[in-house]
Amino acid sequence: MIIPVNLGSRSYRIIVESGALDTVGARLAELRVGSRTALVSDAAILRLYGKAVGRSLESAGFTVTTVEVPAGEAAKTLAVAERCWDALLAAGLDRTSTVLALGGGAVGDVAGFVAATYMRGVNIVQLPTTVLAMVDASSGGKTAINHPTAKNLIGAFHQPRLVLCDPTTTRTLSQREFSSGLAEIVKHGIVLDAAYFAEVERDAAALCARDLPVVERIIGGSCRLKAGIVERDERESELRHVLNYGHTIGHALEAVTGYARFAHGEAVALGIVAEARLARRLGIGSDETVARQERLLASVGLPVRAPAIDADEVLAAITRDKKARDGRVPFVLAPRIGAFQLAYDVSPDLIRAALRELGP
Ligand SMILES: NC(=O)c1ccc[n+]([C@@H]2O[C@H](COP(=O)([O-])OP(=O)(O)OC[C@H]3O[C@@H](n4cnc5c(N)ncnc54)[C@H](O)[C@@H]3O)[C@@H](O)[C@H]2O)c1
Ligand SMILES: [Zn+2]
Repeated sequence: MIIPVNLGSRSYRIIVESGALDTVGARLAELRVGSRTALVSDAAILRLYGKAVGRSLESAGFTVTTVEVPAGEAAKTLAVAERCWDALLAAGLDRTSTVLALGGGAVGDVAGFVAATYMRGVNIVQLPTTVLAMVDASSGGKTAINHPTAKNLIGAFHQPRLVLCDPTTTRTLSQREFSSGLAEIVKHGIVLDAAYFAEVERDAAALCARDLPVVERIIGGSCRLKAGIVERDERESELRHVLNYGHTIGHALEAVTGYARFAHGEAVALGIVAEARLARRLGIGSDETVARQERLLASVGLPVRAPAIDADEVLAAITRDKKARDGRVPFVLAPRIGAFQLAYDVSPDLIRAALRELGP
């Protein structure tokens, strides 16, 4: 599946295709970029997929410098970015060169940030290898490293030149990592597309069994939905907030549990459950709309209840949210499957009550 992202001079394509990693060299050559490239990835991913990508690039005439970064969030620091800049300089990368990010969202974020800043911006190609990175982090151009006090605080918008998703790479993900990514897929269906949501409902079992044609079709559908939003709101002024569905509460749950108890998608799943119940309490949506969201999350292996959540702590974390403006946190709510509306000034009592419903 080829999904165009139309952003004028910054347009690019998202390609979702089994075996896509073997075609990266040829596809990059089509973009007529310079011959030098840097492949940014972590040790585990390099072991699994580094050779295939390196071979493809070299056989298309590119030189490849591999830059290894730590796995996961540990990659998203200024020190790691600095090491990457040094490696790019040492390898002689210039303004026409390309950085390729091979890995999950963490590698994509730091490599994107490095590409956005090195010589005021060089080409970045995203080669996402997690479900989350394929359907969310790799497209849209948001890049970031973490600040010691908050995640993703230091960054830049820098659109990729190309996004290549190879769904076969999802086969080597742990069960937890795989399921976690599905939360974003369910999110896209809930707020953006009822037919897509129904497709995921129908194919939930095959998706969880990682049936490759199904994984490819569902990931492609999700990429298309995200691309549609990015095209209409490239810089996250208003509409793009819709992608925060489940995240206002989800992020707060991650923060109060020290980013240790829940995988991101697990926190988002719980956030969706609580935000669906919040909508119901505000008189938005039906019981059935709430139930369908919970059913689908549970059927793709995500948690819908969590014991021992301190509602007051979560509430305090919500008001510290980066997206808060003048102390007001906007909530994205789903009046029905495939639709959304924004709510400002939601009463803390209602939020607390919705959070309590997460209890077993
Ligand atoms: N820029 C954006 O728009 C955006 C959007 C959402 C999330 N993010 C960021 O993405 C990050 C989370 O990304 P993630 O969930 O992809 O996790 P991750 O990047 O932290 O990777 C998790 C682990 O999975 C391993 N891994 C990756 N692909 C694998 C594969 N195919 N097989 C086996 N192991 C593999 C990695 O080595 C790593 O240890 C966060 O830092 C978040 O802030 C960014
Ligand atoms: Zn998310």
